[in-house]
Amino acid sequence: AATESPTDAESIIEAGPGPEQKPVTVLYGTEYGFSKEIAEKLLGKLKESGALWPRLLDMAEHPEGYPLEAEQALLVVCSTQGDGVPPSEAREFCDWLAGPAAPKLAGLNFSICALGDTSYTHFCACGKAIDSRLEQLGAKRCAPRADINREDWKAVDAWIESAVGSLLELPLKTLVQSTGGPASGVQQQSAPKQKRWGKQRPYYGRVVAIEGLCNITSSDDKDTIRVEVDLGDSALTYIPGDALGILPTNCPQGLEELIEALGVARDTQVPVPSWHYEEAQARTEITMPLHEALSLCYDLRAPKPELLTVLLSSIQKSSQPRAQNGHQNGFAVKDGIDAKLPNGYLANGHAANGLQNGHAPVTQEEKLKQLIASGEASIEAYFEPRHVTDVLHDFNEANPDLQKVLAALRPLLPRLYSISSSMLEGQRSVQITVATVRYESLGRPRIGVTSTYLAERLKVGDVVPVYIHKNPDFRLPEDPARPIIMVGPGTGLAPFRAFMQERLLGKADGTSLGQAVLYFGCRRSDQDYLYGDLLEGWAASGSLTLFTAFSRQQAHKVYVQDRLRESGQLLWRLLESGGHFYVCGDAAHMAGAVEEALLAIIEAQQGNGPEAARAYLADLTAQQRYQRDIWY
Ligand code: 2AM
Repeated sequence: AATESPTDAESIIEAGPGPEQKPVTVLYGTEYGFSKEIAEKLLGKLKESGALWPRLLDMAEHPEGYPLEAEQALLVVCSTQGDGVPPSEAREFCDWLAGPAAPKLAGLNFSICALGDTSYTHFCACGKAIDSRLEQLGAKRCAPRADINREDWKAVDAWIESAVGSLLELPLKTLVQSTGGPASGVQQQSAPKQKRWGKQRPYYGRVVAIEGLCNITSSDDKDTIRVEVDLGDSALTYIPGDALGILPTNCPQGLEELIEALGVARDTQVPVPSWHYEEAQARTEITMPLHEALSLCYDLRAPKPELLTVLLSSIQKSSQPRAQNGHQNGFAVKDGIDAKLPNGYLANGHAANGLQNGHAPVTQEEKLKQLIASGEASIEAYFEPRHVTDVLHDFNEANPDLQKVLAALRPLLPRLYSISSSMLEGQRSVQITVATVRYESLGRPRIGVTSTYLAERLKVGDVVPVYIHKNPDFRLPEDPARPIIMVGPGTGLAPFRAFMQERLLGKADGTSLGQAVLYFGCRRSDQDYLYGDLLEGWAASGSLTLFTAFSRQQAHKVYVQDRLRESGQLLWRLLESGGHFYVCGDAAHMAGAVEEALLAIIEAQQGNGPEAARAYLADLTAQQRYQRDIWY
């Protein structure tokens, strides 16, 4: 196992407070690192104030809570995921806080920065819940909660200012004063217990198998692979429904192209970004070579909008074009998305060529200004088909500072894959089912970062950084006698292979299992019928009722939702006898179409109209008998 370096919190503790400094805790819960970024900025502002002695805590490190009652000032930054739940690694802390073990907090002052996305129903639900829970426990809100939509830094900065300002006005105790008093425990209890494997501390598992699952005959065919990773002595465990988190590396070709576009040496030393997982482990250097940073740490696809400002100020500073031969080619592709940009903007896909569509040609500087002024949605639409390299090519007159470009890049995020195996199979390993992603944008072939990392660059015997992502919202019924209905076309099948294995292998002698029904869909039975032999075997032995939809095997498309409709009576009977209904796979089209089919079946069988059908489904959801694991 890797050694641990002290966290920020611990190093602050070591430094100790000045005699006049008042302890404050910043607590964050994060899925993708944004809450952490805010928490770190807040920490900086608190330190700058001089009067406060802040420390940083990650909810993920305190799954069983910590002595909150010993705090006098607490600022919380926490995001909300999908259906209003906390970040996965913050979930246990939030459950602890909501539960009976949480202490009375009469002496605590707090304020919450809740992150979310207004396009979801449960906007900022987690931050709101923490806010009202702290109040309920007797704590006092010192500054109003901020509900932040996406990356609205303006609103974040306003909250930071109000939260820090409010703390400065409070008569908080210094650590020296508080000795022996009710706040005597203040910040004495920082060191987390043994850290667990997670996003920030992945386990390096050895790949024991990589196996193609499809018969690929044309370049248009999708490929899917089964990857098996040994969990060795990690003590990691999982249950069906959980996902495997993988920390990928970027494609070498893509990152060499970016290094060339940046015009700097590939082994230039750059700071190790604060989010890099190796930092939390053995790594002690504070810099790393550029190519390694781009390989491990940065998302080379979607930069922050600030990249445009960085490019603009560089163009404004220098009139020296940095244009490199060769970069002029290959980008003159008209892309539908450009049509959404401000009038005439980059209509020919390459800024350096000027515009030929009736508007006076504009300079790269003007184009950048127009784009920056066009607002978030247009900037996103501009970035959408591009990689960072393409943006640098579009504005090749800019010669931006490397550090500034890096600061405008986002972290390379781990990817989650539903686990396809059961620990009851007996191996200390985990299996996933991965579709390899290839597509085209701006006329160039593109690849999915993680799926091609797994399919092409990783070999049996290599190690891969992984962790287990718990998914308590996608679980088999506790009672094995309950029927289960599983809908999983394509790689949506992944968790259901684990469900079936777990049920069959876990079955004690003499218990009878509820009926298991699977709806699987793919293109053709001889092409992408994933685990076809296994499924057919289960069907033949009576363990599984199997419905298949081979979409391209006949004149008309047939999908899983069609098979659902054809078997409405069976479905209704199983639901009425306490069955659980699961959907896994594509969120964009499939999941909605399946829900529509399910509602139609309920309505037809109930005969009480669409309202009653919706109420029935809502009731199933409330009983956790309608569960989905879907992705875009
Ligand atoms: P298609 O590609 O032939 O359209 C796994 O990807 C399977 O899901 C394929 O058979 C695919 O069919 C099918 N599929 C595509 N769109 C779907 C949708 N909206 N609903 C259900 N299945 C769909």
